[in-house]
Amino acid sequence: MESRTEAAVRLRDMTSDDLAAAHALSREAQWPHRLEDWDFMFRVGQGVVAERDGVIVGTTLAWPYGEHAATLGMVIVSAACRGAGVGRKLMNATIEGLGERAIQLNATTDGLALYKSLGFVTTGGIHQHQGAAFSVPVVSLRRGERVRPMGAGDEPAVVELDRQATGFARGAMLAEMLKTAQGVVLDRDGEAVGFALFRRFGMGHAVGPVVAPDAHGARVLISHWLGSNAGMFIRLDVPYESGLSAWLEGLGVPDVGRVTTMVRGELPPRSGSVAAFAIASQALG
Ligand SMILES: CC(C)(COP(=O)(O)OP(=O)(O)OC[C@H]1O[C@@H](n2cnc3c(N)ncnc32)[C@H](O)[C@@H]1OP(=O)(O)O)[C@@H](O)C(=O)NCCC(=O)NCCS
Repeated sequence: MESRTEAAVRLRDMTSDDLAAAHALSREAQWPHRLEDWDFMFRVGQGVVAERDGVIVGTTLAWPYGEHAATLGMVIVSAACRGAGVGRKLMNATIEGLGERAIQLNATTDGLALYKSLGFVTTGGIHQHQGAAFSVPVVSLRRGERVRPMGAGDEPAVVELDRQATGFARGAMLAEMLKTAQGVVLDRDGEAVGFALFRRFGMGHAVGPVVAPDAHGARVLISHWLGSNAGMFIRLDVPYESGLSAWLEGLGVPDVGRVTTMVRGELPPRSGSVAAFAIASQALG
């Protein structure tokens, strides 16, 4: 028999009118997202809400990146309604809405068992680094390299570098992000070989995505943003395999938490000779 909570819950597509209630849920969960962050994520994705007696008690968002891949996140059920099947219902509806796409997510400890039971398998993890009191020594550039401001003409190269590093076709999301983000490009002999975005997020600013040919290039790009924003609250979410976590700790940007990267299905292959050294966000991937 269904529990009282489960029976009374109704799912429907999220609309922009739901964002204030969704934001209240993420604040209840002590997540740092601003209403503006929800608004951005919703505009470039799709969402499902769970409603009980006209009150929103659960959310998910998902981002189809082309025909073959998607990420999902912002999976939240109000504390009073947990353990009654609402999270599972939301996840089932979200997965269905993504069709045949392979799905990647970053799981908190709360979500691990649910995702595992839905066929997600662990592929890695993310270190969440953040802080305001850091000091950044200059990372020297190599021959032929320079860091320059990103211009409008760089967008195709940025989208392509991101696609090579992540396997995701997410030009539409990046185009929207670039409307407000600042960016720098790692230029090698006149060619864009990496980039790093800097944008408002949560309690301050985020650096990400950061795509580079190697860890040295990533350190050069990240140092640019940290060095020019000393004393500001800055967050970076770096994959375990980036190898940047100890370096960030050393600069005074501590590791404050970890999430587990999980995948359901087979993601499109990454290609080229670049990698993502910081992700856009835990939800967007
Ligand atoms: C993760 C979350 C969304 C799950 O929502 P929920 O409505 O409680 O989930 P469900 O009731 O559908 O339970 C799904 C599964 O989670 C696990 N689970 C749920 N409550 C649990 C509890 N109290 N203890 C242990 N496992 C539990 C079970 O494996 C359950 O499987 P079952 O259906 O076979 O029992 C919810 O805990 C939450 O909002 N947490 C805070 C935000 C967060 O961390 N979200 C995850 C982001 S990746």
